[in-house]
Amino acid sequence: MASDEQEKPLAPTAYRISVPEDRAMSMELKRLYSNRYYVKWCGCISALFLILVVVVLVLVFTVFRVKDPVIKMNSAKIEGLDRLNVSNIDPSTNLTVIADVSVKNPNVASFKYENATTRLFYDGVVVGEARTPGGRAKARRTVRLNLTIDVMLGKILDVPRLGADLRSGVLPVSSYTSISGKVKIVNVIKRNVVVRLNCTMSVNITSRGIQDQHCRRHVSL
Ligand SMILES: *[C@@H]1O[C@H](CO)[C@@H](O)[C@H](O)[C@H]1NC(C)=O
Ligand SMILES: *[C@@H]1O[C@H](CO)[C@@H](O)[C@H](O)[C@H]1NC(C)=O
Ligand SMILES: *[C@@H]1O[C@H](CO)[C@@H](O)[C@H](O)[C@H]1NC(C)=O
Ligand SMILES: *[C@@H]1O[C@H](CO)[C@@H](O)[C@H](O)[C@H]1NC(C)=O
Ligand SMILES: *[C@@H]1O[C@H](CO)[C@@H](O)[C@H](O)[C@H]1NC(C)=O
Ligand SMILES: *[C@@H]1O[C@H](CO)[C@@H](O)[C@H](O)[C@H]1NC(C)=O
Repeated sequence: MASDEQEKPLAPTAYRISVPEDRAMSMELKRLYSNRYYVKWCGCISALFLILVVVVLVLVFTVFRVKDPVIKMNSAKIEGLDRLNVSNIDPSTNLTVIADVSVKNPNVASFKYENATTRLFYDGVVVGEARTPGGRAKARRTVRLNLTIDVMLGKILDVPRLGADLRSGVLPVSSYTSISGKVKIVNVIKRNVVVRLNCTMSVNITSRGIQDQHCRRHVSL
């Protein structure tokens, strides 16, 4: 019994002593653990944030980067040249230039363009003008347009070098096309784009075709 009574208070004392130690240990452990927990979480969040930043940067510089729409003249032909008597030109003869133009949109967003203007020059004089209605080039798609330009023959007849050019059989002409539009990527990135295309070409009187076509394009974002 005595041993029992002696043992009894011992156990609580041992217990009592061990309690604060345990508590301190557990607190220490808890702090260590929570520190590690924080470090772990901070690391995780930082890593995630970094990955997110890299992903966004990659997207901005690749997919979401606004790229230049490419405008190209595939072919051009003149209608009505067969009705023209070169040795006796009638100014009321209707000549029409039909140009096949393609607008390639390399962006992941659609390119919405407004009215396009095309002017035809002969010796620096505007001899024809065409207006093409606006439209939309879908993402990564190419739109083909037929530009129809009515040639003002009366203006061509006023050009002094016409006689010499007719004798050589080749008329050097140039064209200027301007298309302005907007590239909009998920309503966040909006960019006004003006695409210009300058071409020089020669009209062959005998073959009634267009040859030696050289184009230069210019884009302003
Ligand atoms: C072209 O005009 C000239 C002079 O007027 C005329 O002699 C000739 O017959 C005409 N040619 C054609 C194909 O109409
Ligand atoms: C040229 O076109 C106009 C209007 O499109 C027309 O009135 C005229 O008769 C045409 N002229 C010729 C020679 O075809
Ligand atoms: C495009 O052309 C149409 C018809 O000519 C005109 O009503 C419209 O205002 C033009 N739009 C622009 C942006 O020039
Ligand atoms: C352009 O014209 C050509 C021939 O005149 C025709 O085959 C083609 O379908 C036209 N394209 C458009 C987009 O109108
Ligand atoms: C294209 O032609 C237009 C009109 O003739 C001119 O103002 C412009 O400077 C030319 N641009 C280029 C790149 O040749
Ligand atoms: C015009 O076209 C014809 C037939 O294609 C060709 O024989 C001739 O050489 C051309 N003229 C010039 C100046 O290139």
